[in-house]
Amino acid sequence: MSGHGTPIPMTSHPCGPLTGTAEVPGDKSISHRSLILGAMAVGETRISGLLEGEDVLDTAKAMRAFGAEVISHGNGEWTVHGVGVGGFAEPDQVIDCGNSGTGVRLIMGAMATSPISATFTGDASLNKRPMARVTDPLALFGAQAVGRSGGRLPMTIVGAADPVPVWYEVPVPSAQVKSAVLLAGLNAPGKTVVIEKEATRDHSERMLAGFGAEITVEDTDEGRVITLTGRPELKPQVIAVPRDPSSAAFPVCAALITPGSDVLVPGIGLNPTRAGLFTTLREMGADLTYENMREEGGEPVADLRARYSPDMKGIDVPPERAASMIDEYPVLSVVAANATGKTMMGGVKELRVKESDRIDAMARGLRANGVTVDEGDDWWSVDGLGIGGVPGGGTCESFLDHRIAMSFMVMGMGAQQAVSVDDGGPIATSFPIFEPLMNGLGAKVERT
Ligand code: S3P
Repeated sequence: MSGHGTPIPMTSHPCGPLTGTAEVPGDKSISHRSLILGAMAVGETRISGLLEGEDVLDTAKAMRAFGAEVISHGNGEWTVHGVGVGGFAEPDQVIDCGNSGTGVRLIMGAMATSPISATFTGDASLNKRPMARVTDPLALFGAQAVGRSGGRLPMTIVGAADPVPVWYEVPVPSAQVKSAVLLAGLNAPGKTVVIEKEATRDHSERMLAGFGAEITVEDTDEGRVITLTGRPELKPQVIAVPRDPSSAAFPVCAALITPGSDVLVPGIGLNPTRAGLFTTLREMGADLTYENMREEGGEPVADLRARYSPDMKGIDVPPERAASMIDEYPVLSVVAANATGKTMMGGVKELRVKESDRIDAMARGLRANGVTVDEGDDWWSVDGLGIGGVPGGGTCESFLDHRIAMSFMVMGMGAQQAVSVDDGGPIATSFPIFEPLMNGLGAKVERT
């Protein structure tokens, strides 16, 4: 498994036009939630288009450990026979969530209001990440957590035998924290209320409603108020997972900076809580269009068409947009390096606690390839060199972070010289077909 195995150095060479259709994998956030909610429903949930990346496969394994029957039928088709809300069995092994913060935090929430214990661990990246943001609200339900110093994994959660519902205002903009509280609220009697000041991705709310939970969402002056009634019987669903906008970001951005490119990325979920990158790129002057807008499974979907865009300008990305593009700042910084003028990215403190400190990781790799970057605690800026102006020629550390590795591979496509990463292995966590897909469009990405 990546992060545990031998590093896979990779190099991306400057290339000719990227053309054709990029069928990116299923949405990671929706894939995790499909498995977890499927495991908490009564009966058989059928899923198509599931992302079969390492992160999601680890969640599938975890759901089996809690007693659900989770079966792969090949080609993204899965079935989950759920055990019902409150029906989880106690796992007899440590739950290894690999690289996945979403997996571990959502599963902790889902089991925290059942009278069982479970011990969680992950890879070197996940075991550095803060878990108190989830275990603090879970304690309000009556669950206990014992982990390493700084609230880090490995960690045991002792679920509440007699949970109480909670009222919780999420202190950081985090869909994982919000979702952990909602999933815990499922097995607490009465109403659990979660308030978020800034709207984060709302897949949990949409899917809980789809599974038949009683859930309301109100926009108020204090923020979004989400109220969930506990102890529903969740009804199994048929779920078609849309393709992941966070994965689409890579072929889209690659096409914008690679001369002559014209790439279609079909069937991309454009939930407004996820689509901030595309709005930003268009503001920068990218030739990016939405075709065939439609709705699938309660989520807005479109085909994206990205063409080479030699005249992009640096902009100030509005801080209030950060939550809707939080995973896309690394690849945005690569586009920013190919625009004219400075791109300023503020309100992004959360980037420092992702799979890596993403501001630090990108700043180091951009500088190693001739790009000027400034940074503060919660902001960073990139001085654009204009299209094709990135010298390249450097090797970047990926810090066990898939999105850092893929961003630098994209950078190499439009740079003057090749760009390398020390370890592309983590790409398999979210986008296992990245290399063949990009090379199929005309990229020159190779293992070195
Ligand atoms: C996710 C939420 C975000 C995001 C992550 C997926 C989710 O994390 O970065 O890749 O599926 O809920 P935070 O909740 O830490 O912002």
